[in-house]
Amino acid sequence: MYVCICQAVTESEVHACIQAGAKSARQIRDTTGAGKDCATCVRKICAILKRSEELVATA
Ligand code: FES
Repeated sequence: MYVCICQAVTESEVHACIQAGAKSARQIRDTTGAGKDCATCVRKICAILKRSEELVATA
């Protein structure tokens, strides 16, 4: 599923980015390009980041 339509970035790409060490929406944008056009996806990216932090916190 696409997270960022403008840059055609998928959810799994965002997850891969987080696993590679990205800790903020800005780092994800710099790596994948997601969020650099209309920025509609930034909230979605933040939600994915938050969810992955929670998973790490409970692991
Ligand atoms: S949907 Fe990501 S920049 Fe537009």
